[in-house]
Amino acid sequence: MPDTRTGIRGRAIARSVALLMALYLGSAVPAAPPAPADEAKAAAKIDNSAAALAPELKLSPADMAWWRDAKLGVFVHWGLYAIPAKGEWYMFNAHVPAAEYRKLADQFKPRHFDPDAWARAARSAGARYMVVTTRHHDGFALFDSPASYDHFDAMHSAAHTDFIRGYVDGARRQKLRVGLYYSPLDWRFPAYFDVKGLPENAAAFRKQTYDQISELTTRYGKIDILWYDGGWLAHKGTDADAAWFWHPEILNAMVRRNQPKVVINPRSGWQGDFNTEEGSAPITGPIRAKPWEKTFSLTISGAWGYMPDQRLMPLDRLKMLFVDAVTRNGNMLVNVGPDADGVIPEGQIRLLKAFGQWTGRYGESLFATRPGPFQPVDDVYGTTHRGSSIYVHVLRWPDATLELPPLGQKVLRATSLTGGAVEFRQTPAGIGLRVLRPDPVDTIIRLDLDGPVVTSTD
Ligand code: GLC
Repeated sequence: MPDTRTGIRGRAIARSVALLMALYLGSAVPAAPPAPADEAKAAAKIDNSAAALAPELKLSPADMAWWRDAKLGVFVHWGLYAIPAKGEWYMFNAHVPAAEYRKLADQFKPRHFDPDAWARAARSAGARYMVVTTRHHDGFALFDSPASYDHFDAMHSAAHTDFIRGYVDGARRQKLRVGLYYSPLDWRFPAYFDVKGLPENAAAFRKQTYDQISELTTRYGKIDILWYDGGWLAHKGTDADAAWFWHPEILNAMVRRNQPKVVINPRSGWQGDFNTEEGSAPITGPIRAKPWEKTFSLTISGAWGYMPDQRLMPLDRLKMLFVDAVTRNGNMLVNVGPDADGVIPEGQIRLLKAFGQWTGRYGESLFATRPGPFQPVDDVYGTTHRGSSIYVHVLRWPDATLELPPLGQKVLRATSLTGGAVEFRQTPAGIGLRVLRPDPVDTIIRLDLDGPVVTSTD
């Protein structure tokens, strides 16, 4: 007589082993194409004009005005990846299986998490808003998220703290607008790499995104910005290409019900209220019609999350990028990466402060302005205006006199905000400007007109 019990047990063991294997393999990051370079990611994400249009979801110009006035934000990339300190793509790049990666949560107990300190650092730069990663591609939620697949959230980490609650409260206390970053992409789901082949896993994957976006937009009071990243599938194509799977028009209709005025970026595959341009490459071209935002990291190591390599972008470059963004209808979102203890590295704090001294001093030519009336000339100058004043930002003087196009309004006065007397002449052919002592980075000249600036670029 066969030993059925052994047989049953044997089969049970074999089943458990198979199950464990499946779980292990299932939870491992599946073999996938190598991570795309930042430039490739940026290029794929720049234009989502083909995305599900749903124009009824777009905010009105009046509701976008505060964001366009704000100009400057501070981005924070923070999560479990601050522990291994190899950047926020560590899990994927180092092929760490999900089961292994999640052990980092047991060590995640930041000793100096101080959201007011983050917010003060942002304010010191002159920033009007912040955006914090509530959940990056590794799937770890920094907030209390019952909807998190497999309880991979802050409440199930060593810290047992809802960091997003702390951040939202801290930012509000410091009078900053509150932005939440969220990545629909989650490497823990094998379906991310094979949506059609793994329908059950894909359904759980999508459900998590809908449920977590619902949590984030219902539990933290008023949210000012929702910043999606990675509406991709399998790291391929554009965010808009994956719209058939995410249905961003349905997702964002829910967001609008919960947060009617939240400003939404385009990376869920829906066109969004503004465009995003990623990376610190020079900004060129004419004034862009749709509001947009340049975003990059203050460190030049290539990562957004904390890395010991703290080489920083030079201050002058930061100023020039800001001028180039603002004179082309853009905002700028500069990223910092706090360490595993929650501390923004000292060099980044200092850079923000130094930048803030400059944005504070020349803020009238930047904040709450609109671009134009003159189209920018790459590398040479760009203009902003507010009320009856035009601000000319000269980044390079090709000749001693800068020639601007003609203007149908009378210039009463020209003053250099950066010092040095200004000579100017206005003729039907244009405006000539000359400054005795130009600024080495950005000479700012205010032209006061005889009435409010009239322009078609608003
Ligand atoms: C890129 C990176 C991502 C980062 C994002 C910020 O898409 O993949 O890690 O969060 O840029 O814009």
